[in-house]
Amino acid sequence: MKCRVCRGPAVIDVRRHNANFCAEHFLRLCRDQTAKVIDEFAMFGPDDRVLVAVSGGKDSLALWDLLLELGYAVDGLYLGLGIGGYSDRSGEMARAFATARGATLLEVDLPTEYGYDIPSGSRAARRVPCSACGLSKRHLFDKAALDGGYDVVATGHNLDDEAAVLFGNALTWKTEYLARQLPVLPARPGFPRKVKPLVRLGEREMAAYCVLRGIDYIVEECPMAAGNKHLGYKEALNLIEERSPGTKRDFYFGFLARAASRFAEGHAEDQQDLTTCERCGAPASSEVCAFCRLVEKATRTAEPVAITRKAQAG
Ligand code: AMP
Ligand code: FES
Ligand code: ZN
Ligand code: ZN
Repeated sequence: MKCRVCRGPAVIDVRRHNANFCAEHFLRLCRDQTAKVIDEFAMFGPDDRVLVAVSGGKDSLALWDLLLELGYAVDGLYLGLGIGGYSDRSGEMARAFATARGATLLEVDLPTEYGYDIPSGSRAARRVPCSACGLSKRHLFDKAALDGGYDVVATGHNLDDEAAVLFGNALTWKTEYLARQLPVLPARPGFPRKVKPLVRLGEREMAAYCVLRGIDYIVEECPMAAGNKHLGYKEALNLIEERSPGTKRDFYFGFLARAASRFAEGHAEDQQDLTTCERCGAPASSEVCAFCRLVEKATRTAEPVAITRKAQAG
């Protein structure tokens, strides 16, 4: 196996590109693909302040590293979701990376700052964990970016993630989600710009990138996600990709080039009619935003425990 660029010994094959790469040229490929996407979709420029949401996993840590390597002004944001040891370990990975690179990491801890964690909060609010988690993440990413004066929030969604989400949304024709499944969502009042600079790179490549760059990441998956539909869609696409390398890329980028705008037309009105949440000031479709309603429900049962603890302490 020889590197396509230098003909030296290769360390990885990328079947989608029908090519093998040595470590140096593989890392260059990752940087080039990231830079290409940033440019192609006008995600941000050298003067923008970027906040990268880091989960402690391979994708978001690789993204942070790539953006630093490309010379962008980029800080990290870690949300402590209170998912037991999984959250403790993922936070440690994010902190270790920040320390090693001398980079700034902002942290928001759901249990200490909002009084609930994802496992018990989602039960109390009668939501599936990933839905309570997704809602909390979106709200807190937006808030951290706006409070901190960042121009854009970047997440580590890769090609495998985006193709699987697209596959799921197409199987069930969720047109309102298809309208918004873009690598860039422009800023709107109360919302920062959101970007996904890893959409040209796959999961396996991001793991290889971290290994070659000596980045320690949390390998275990979130325990709350086990068995969810999204993982099933990923497995199905992996079977197809195995037989026809490049299918995921063609599916996702074909959607962006030829289909996404058709869904957007039908959903332009979804963007309107937002008011301001009377509790937190975020954009909302009713008096109180979905996040504040979640916090209220999620902390309702937790409250007596907190009061008892305080009473005992006092
Ligand atoms: P997921 O929804 O877990 O697939 O994660 C998608 C992206 O969201 C990751 O690549 C990160 O950019 C971001 N993210 C996930 N979990 C966290 C977290 N606990 N703190 C900050 N960012 C996160
Ligand atoms: Fe959100 Fe697992 S990371 S439920
Ligand atoms: Zn090479
Ligand atoms: Zn609110």
